Amino acid sequence: MDKHYQNRPFTVDTPAQRVVFGDGALARVGDELDALGLHRVLVLCTPPQRTLAQAVADALGARSAGVHDGAVMHVPVETARAGHARALATGADGLVAVGGGSTVGLAKAIALDSGLPIIAIPTTYAGSEMTPIWGLTEGGIKRTGRDVRVLPRSVIYDPVLTRELPLAMAMASGLNAIAHAAEALYAGDANPMTDWMATEGLASIGSALPALRRAPHDAEARRQALYGAWLCGRVLGSVEMGLHHKLCHTLGGSFDLPHAEVHAVVLPHALAYNAAAAPRAMARIATALRGVPADDAPQAVYQLARDAGVPASLASLGLPEAALDTACMQALQRRYPNPRPLEAEPLRALLQAAWAGDAPGA
Ligand SMILES: NC(=O)c1ccc[n+]([C@@H]2O[C@H](COP(=O)([O-])OP(=O)(O)OC[C@H]3O[C@@H](n4cnc5c(N)ncnc54)[C@H](O)[C@@H]3O)[C@@H](O)[C@H]2O)c1
Repeated sequence: MDKHYQNRPFTVDTPAQRVVFGDGALARVGDELDALGLHRVLVLCTPPQRTLAQAVADALGARSAGVHDGAVMHVPVETARAGHARALATGADGLVAVGGGSTVGLAKAIALDSGLPIIAIPTTYAGSEMTPIWGLTEGGIKRTGRDVRVLPRSVIYDPVLTRELPLAMAMASGLNAIAHAAEALYAGDANPMTDWMATEGLASIGSALPALRRAPHDAEARRQALYGAWLCGRVLGSVEMGLHHKLCHTLGGSFDLPHAEVHAVVLPHALAYNAAAAPRAMARIATALRGVPADDAPQAVYQLARDAGVPASLASLGLPEAALDTACMQALQRRYPNPRPLEAEPLRALLQAAWAGDAPGA
C-alpha cells in the first residue's frame, strides 16, 4: 500500500461506463447501441467533422436518426437548444457524439435536459467523454456543473480517428490531458486509483507527444496518446481540479480563448505556483515525464510544450495585457480547492508570466 494513504481515508466512486478501445473500434458502434438497448440515435458533430459523422450514421443505417452538425466550442446555449429540438423532432432515443470536447459538450447539454444516453467517440485528447461535467455559455458567461446524466454511457476510443487531427491541435490537446492528470495528483480527494491513472496517463501521453511531433502519423504514438487521454479524462471526472483548471475556465470562458491552447500555456505556471505546496505530486509528474530533460515538474511541462510547438503565451492567443487584472480578480472571487492558498500578488505574477510566455518561476 502506498504510504501516503496508510493514515489517510479515501473514497473511490466508480461510475458505470463502458470503454471500448482499439484500432478500428469505430466498427463496434452498433454493438454499443445493442449494449445500451438503443434503437435510433442522433449523430452529433462540428461542421468540419460532418463526413466522419455521416459515415457513422451510414454504418448505423435505419438506426441513425440523422446527423446534426451544430457543435460549437464552449456550447453556446442556443446550440444546445437547437440540438435538443432536433433530437426531439427525430424521435432519437440516444446520442452519438463524434468529435472533440465541443461535440461531447453539445451531447451533454442535450442530455442534461432530455436524459438521452450518450455514446461518445472522441477524436481529440480533451477527456470530456470521461466526465459528468457539463458546460453552457450564455451572454459570455460559461456555467459548469456535474450531473451523472451527462456522463457518456459508452465511449469508443479508436486511435485511427485521430490520424487527421492536425499536429498543432494534437499537441495542445495532449497538454490539456496532461493538465487533468497533473492537478489530479495534488487533489485533496485523490485516491490510489486516481493516482495510478494520472501517473500512467501522464507517462503515456508525455512520451506520445514528442513521438508524434517527429512522426505525426505514427500509429503507435497515436494509440499511446489516446490511451493516455482516456486515463487523464478519467481522473478529471473523478477528483476536484484546482487553480489551473479554474484559471483556464475563467480565461477561456470570459475572453473566448481556445480551450486546449490556454491549458498548454498556463499549466507550467500553475504548477510552479503550487510546487512547494505539493512536492509529492511534483515528483510524480517529473518522474512520469522523465523523457523530457528538465529539472522539475513545471520545467518539464514547459519544455514539453516548447518541444511540441504549442503557443507559449496568452498574448499570442490574443489576450490583451489589460485583461490580466480582470482575470486575476475573477480567479480570486471563486473559491476552489488548491494546495497553495490563493493570494492576489503571486496570482497576478503567474498571469503576467503566462501572458508574456516566460519560463515558469522565472
Ligand atoms: N466537460 C468536460 O469535462 C470537458 C473536458 C475537456 C474539454 N471540455 C470542453 O471541450 C471543448 C474543447 O474541446 P477540444 O479541445 O477537444 O476541441 P474541439 O472539440 O472544439 O475541436 C477543435 C476542432 O478540431 C476539430 N477536430 C476534432 N477532432 C478532429 C480530428 N480527429 N481530425 C480533424 N479535426 C478534428 C473539431 O471539429 C473542431 O473544429 C471546450 O469547450 C472545453 O470546455 C469539456
